[in-house]
Amino acid sequence: MADKGTYYISTPIYYPSSNLHIGHTYCTVMADAMARFKRLQGYDVMFLTGTDEHGQKIQLLAEEKGVTPQQYVDEVVAGIKDLWKTMEISYDDFIRTTEDRHVKRVQELFMRMYKKGDIYKGNYEGWYCTPCESFWTENQLIDGKYCPDCGREVTKAQEEAYFFQISKYADDLLKIFRETPEFLEPEARRNEMISFIEQGMEDLCISRSSFDWGIPVPIDEKHVIYVWLDALSNYITALGWPDDPEKYNKYWPADVHLVGKEIVRFHSIIWPAMLMSADLPLPKQVRGHGWLLLGGEKVSKSKAAKGNDVIDPVVLIDRYGIDALKYFLLREYTFGQDGVFTNEVMLKRLNYDLANDLGNLVSRTVSMIEKYNGGIVPDLTDAGKCIPGEDGIDYDAQLKEIAISAADKVGKQMDDFKFNLALEEIWVVVRRANKYIDETMPWVLAKNEEDKPRLDNVLHNLAEAIRIVSVLIHPFMHTTSDAIRKQMGLWYADVAWEDAFTFEMMCGEQVKKGAAIFPRLDIDKELEELYALGAKIAEEKGEVNIPLELKDEIVYEDFDKLDLRVGTILSAEKHPKADKLLVFQVKMGTEKRQIVSGVAEYFKPEDCVGQKVVVVANLKPRKLRGVESKGMLLFADNIADGKERVEFVSTVAEDGNPVT
Ligand code: ME8
Repeated sequence: MADKGTYYISTPIYYPSSNLHIGHTYCTVMADAMARFKRLQGYDVMFLTGTDEHGQKIQLLAEEKGVTPQQYVDEVVAGIKDLWKTMEISYDDFIRTTEDRHVKRVQELFMRMYKKGDIYKGNYEGWYCTPCESFWTENQLIDGKYCPDCGREVTKAQEEAYFFQISKYADDLLKIFRETPEFLEPEARRNEMISFIEQGMEDLCISRSSFDWGIPVPIDEKHVIYVWLDALSNYITALGWPDDPEKYNKYWPADVHLVGKEIVRFHSIIWPAMLMSADLPLPKQVRGHGWLLLGGEKVSKSKAAKGNDVIDPVVLIDRYGIDALKYFLLREYTFGQDGVFTNEVMLKRLNYDLANDLGNLVSRTVSMIEKYNGGIVPDLTDAGKCIPGEDGIDYDAQLKEIAISAADKVGKQMDDFKFNLALEEIWVVVRRANKYIDETMPWVLAKNEEDKPRLDNVLHNLAEAIRIVSVLIHPFMHTTSDAIRKQMGLWYADVAWEDAFTFEMMCGEQVKKGAAIFPRLDIDKELEELYALGAKIAEEKGEVNIPLELKDEIVYEDFDKLDLRVGTILSAEKHPKADKLLVFQVKMGTEKRQIVSGVAEYFKPEDCVGQKVVVVANLKPRKLRGVESKGMLLFADNIADGKERVEFVSTVAEDGNPVT
């Protein structure tokens, strides 16, 4: 295999604040496909991922759980690593920001920037939320005064902090964006960054002194290094910079940092400025991807609970397999743009592309080779060549041409991070091969002994096309690729990218039909089961938060007209003329009054005595079937034993007391 040099790709390092959902896996799945693709092409790949474990949020989460921050992150990070293992993510290194190798190197980076004169001590002033112990910028606040996390009012506060004079590098950064546009893709993000810099940049707060879960500032023990300097440095600390520089010298500068769009600014402005300050080379490229959305908003656990779409990758993998999930993420969405995730979109993709197109191609071909040639892939013969018919098309030549030209097209799309179009190029081959079966009709050829040479060539060509597809899909779905190769009798050959450029490799392989590589799904049934599962998961996690459907909103003044009181039921009897009504005598403090209520089907009169009730006390009196009722009793609607009923809303308050 040709030695193509090195290729260094990274994902962001994830916050261990909760289990990862499908949105998080999106970036890692893309990075994994790219890493596998580059390895297959002969690159020496470094694929880095990891976890971003410091900061006040983590400290608070740990406190809530009653464990130390280190215990907390150890547990969550183990879960994240398990997920990547389940998904067969082929990372070469996993960096945790709590590891010694990271901590000491971040301190070194801080010192280099400090010695350069780019770091100074000052006061951090911002909007502070006391319960959350968090500073917010004016823009982050809700309605200019409420905490975006807990919704409570914030106050202005100050804290001693170290600052990085990032503005010193503004002109250099602008020059990079303008002269090396490929430094940041896609273009829309680049334009955003240019205008961000042009508006003038404030110095960056890089230390905090009001909590201690972080890397100590080497020159001041009262401070810990604030998250972004800590987090971004992972891309070089994992390589051993500066004390163990073998890997650093080999792989840095990174070929690409793959990140979500909301953290492009940190990667394309703050990180390069930090590197400039430390006199280190900049990464070659930052690529910002879009978000997976649920119902128009970024995928998050609570959003999933609303729509009951299942977004837990482990559950989806259990049902449909790793490759199905990876294929869907890579094929459905366009890099750089947001895309909507629903279980339905996913299931349709799996059925149409994987079960119908790819699955059918493989199973039809293997069956035909078994049936018509004893399970052996036939060799090509001149006697079996395609003789173009009335349409003048040489089907064999067309299939071959499409199959052997696909690898280049896939490569071009991959160089541009267009995973969906790369897969589309592969499916051009898959669909063409399926069409080839319909055009050549092997089952008709099989009826005449004299057509056997032609039948052999057709089966051979199909086997070649499938072999090429197995190479092309390998970076995206290696398990499926292996399964196909096993069915095609290709178990003896390693997958090599070069093999996708030739159509003359197969002859004499023993094919063997296996299980369907992607079984056809009953979409309606799957959806029903997934929604039920989604609702169950959400309920178990206490994440159901679906807004109630209410009557029209009222203003406070409307509510204030009601006088609600606590009452005690002194007696109850059946209404003389109406089966559904009970006539209650109710005591509210000093006053006794009669109230009629339509609850006879739910209570025996004697069971009501002594119960507390909430009374709408200032409701205008009226007669109900001839009996006067002064006010209204409030009950809670309920379902018991599958039947509708009402219950007393119990209270221990003194009767006569207002309900406010
Ligand atoms: O930002 N769709 O960590 P993080 C697509 N620790 N991508 C999504 C997504 C969604 N619905 N939700 C999250 C951090 N992501 C920092 C990074 S790097 C030095 C420090 C992506 O766990 C998000 O865009 O909040 C980001 O790229 C990644 O998940 C990690 O997010």
